[in-house]
Amino acid sequence: MSERPEGPRLLVARDGDELASLAADVVQDGLREAPAPRLGLATGGSVAGLYRELIRRHQRDEISFGAVQAFLLDEYLGLPAGHPKAYRSVIRRLLVDHVDFAPGAVVGPDPSAPDLAAESARYEGMLAGGMDLQILGIGRNGHIAFNEPGSSLTGTTRVVSISEATRRDNARFFDHPGDVPRRAITQGIGSILRARRLLLVATGESKAAALSAALEGPVSVAVPASALQLHDHVAVVADRAAASALRGCRHPH
Ligand code: GLP
Repeated sequence: MSERPEGPRLLVARDGDELASLAADVVQDGLREAPAPRLGLATGGSVAGLYRELIRRHQRDEISFGAVQAFLLDEYLGLPAGHPKAYRSVIRRLLVDHVDFAPGAVVGPDPSAPDLAAESARYEGMLAGGMDLQILGIGRNGHIAFNEPGSSLTGTTRVVSISEATRRDNARFFDHPGDVPRRAITQGIGSILRARRLLLVATGESKAAALSAALEGPVSVAVPASALQLHDHVAVVADRAAASALRGCRHPH
């Protein structure tokens, strides 16, 4: 867009298939250059179609994860080990079980560690050097990973409280709203920005205001995803509904 030539590259998809395909292209491009690529994985509804498309491409021998090291963005605290809604379990079902990652190649922060501050520091150390490509979703309140509004834009991996708004949004994944954990361990915005490339996937009208604030509003801790404006290599793949509030995108097709 002309008003922010250095800003995020915005790709608006006509439908879910196109969204998945555009996002998968960004992932493939991001992993192509490195011999042992480092991939940052988000969970959530917005990225499910992307992962299905990556599985399809893997089945067609178009992409291999055999040399890829993958790192989870965030994880709930307080769920029993192996809980099906733990992000570690979710990402297995969405992607990892269906492609060719080497054993042990997908890691995340350990929510059962006895000392979570030490675990946060250990995990942050593993992220040093940054991802080649980091996949992100966006919360309705503008959060990325579990960096809720007010989070430092230079923060690192740490234990956080999940806002009531985000707990309500994520309740759809749980049997009872009260089951949604109150705390998480999350990469910080500083950890995320170390990636060489970022891919943000946004779907649905409920994300429109957050996406517009993130891409066209001021860079502010009030909108954690606005930190993406500080990064030079960001691709945003959105459907029309999520892109509908963007000033520079009144008529995407
Ligand atoms: C969750 C996760 C984020 C995710 C976001 C969007 O709370 N912590 O990593 O990107 O919210 O989720 P969804 O795609 O399901 O809307």
